[in-house]
Amino acid sequence: MKILFAASEAAPYVKSGGLGDVMEALPSELAKNDDVEVSVFLPYYKSIKSNPRFNLEFVTSFSTMLSWRQTHVGIFKSYSVNKKVTYYFIDNEYYFNRDGSYYGYYDDGERFAYFSKAILESLHHLNYYPDIIHLNDWQTAAIPVLLKAFYAKIPDYSKIKTVFTIHNIEYQGKMPMEFLTEIMGFSNSWKSVMKDVNCNCINFMKSAILLSDKITTVSKTYSYEIRHPYFSHGLDTVLKENEDKLIGIVNGINTKIYNPRTDKHLPFNYSSSDLLGKAACKKALQQELNLPVRNDVPIISLITRLVSHKGLDLIECVLSSILNMDVQLVVEGTGDQKYEDMFKFSEYNSPNKMAAVIKFDSDLASRIYAGSDLFLMPSKSEPCGLAQLIAMRYGTIPIVRETGGLVDTVPPLNIDTLEGKGFTFKLFNAHDMLNAIERAVSFWHNESKREEHIKNLIKYDSSWKNPVWEYMNLYSELVK
Ligand code: GLC
Repeated sequence: MKILFAASEAAPYVKSGGLGDVMEALPSELAKNDDVEVSVFLPYYKSIKSNPRFNLEFVTSFSTMLSWRQTHVGIFKSYSVNKKVTYYFIDNEYYFNRDGSYYGYYDDGERFAYFSKAILESLHHLNYYPDIIHLNDWQTAAIPVLLKAFYAKIPDYSKIKTVFTIHNIEYQGKMPMEFLTEIMGFSNSWKSVMKDVNCNCINFMKSAILLSDKITTVSKTYSYEIRHPYFSHGLDTVLKENEDKLIGIVNGINTKIYNPRTDKHLPFNYSSSDLLGKAACKKALQQELNLPVRNDVPIISLITRLVSHKGLDLIECVLSSILNMDVQLVVEGTGDQKYEDMFKFSEYNSPNKMAAVIKFDSDLASRIYAGSDLFLMPSKSEPCGLAQLIAMRYGTIPIVRETGGLVDTVPPLNIDTLEGKGFTFKLFNAHDMLNAIERAVSFWHNESKREEHIKNLIKYDSSWKNPVWEYMNLYSELVK
């Protein structure tokens, strides 16, 4: 079976968030099956072009039409370390050779419409026709409609099935109505497919929901949540109408990279059978962040983008109560100025209790996952969430709000039987969160139970094994 992934990011080439991690791990895990051939298509961004580490090979070039525009398409390629996954890079300097972050430009809609069209056009030039095109988020969501509008009559194309994964429904790719003809080159007959439900604009994600053969989300709970207006950002009706195609498959993490026994970024390694290294990591973290070195106080950590939907407003509300407890709070991340300032200000006021690292440094993140005791994730919504999985892998007990993937991966802990995984709260309410933190801190003080639970967490299988099996079933169902 041939599977083509189309995405705006995939580590190690380009990553701005969880999508980049998933696009690194899932293709290579799938490719471990002998009868599966996997490729990943990415834009050839300036950051990839200018990085000598990525030694890409030129394959071919041609031009294609985007409405009335004649555009250049260059194709470069490279392979994953084990040669199992082929990466193709779509080169067009006008669209992708830009400084800074790869997204956030006024013409993102046109850039990703071009990318989607260029992928479909490449298949013919590469003589490579996959059984499945697996799309991810709005940036590649125009592929099914382009496929139906321009390629449906070509036999090699007409057999291709599409799977569309929603990693975050908040970003849908909404463009002005003129986009339909002016950029996409569609006739007005495609208007009803592309038109947004609420505004007079076009919506890439909506068209993929209508036209893909299957729709997935990155956890089961999120696949139900988005059928309701509170979570759907306007797409609940369309999703309900297409719910027979919709399923949730929770993400995994790369348990080889995230492994406290071998992680080279840690000052000390440890495992479920020997936790001494975790205590040593905690001491080293306190020293590194200028916090008092105390093993009788729990470190609560938070590694996140500092934006409202990650639940930062709840923290803002009760930050002083948290810091009144005998705890240390460590925050790493960047985001809205308001939250960056809030944490910096409390670090200034309570240097013995709070460390705010306003940057994203993945090596430091590993040291924080390992060196802290409790991991806070009070998200307002969370399609899957990877940080809680990484925290548990390092034996750090999660405190989460019961939403999306956090429900699927962090069942509430029964402190008597030690069934379950973490401390949870249901309502998006600051004092409910505070209560969960208090329960977690009180549990942490019970040393023997705590150790037993930490060992259970480290042993928990959060690898891609089960998700890959579910994806394989889904693909097989489509191609049979
Ligand atoms: C998005 C979601 C996050 C998910 C990730 C990977 O970033 O917000 O919850 O883990 O995609 O699927």
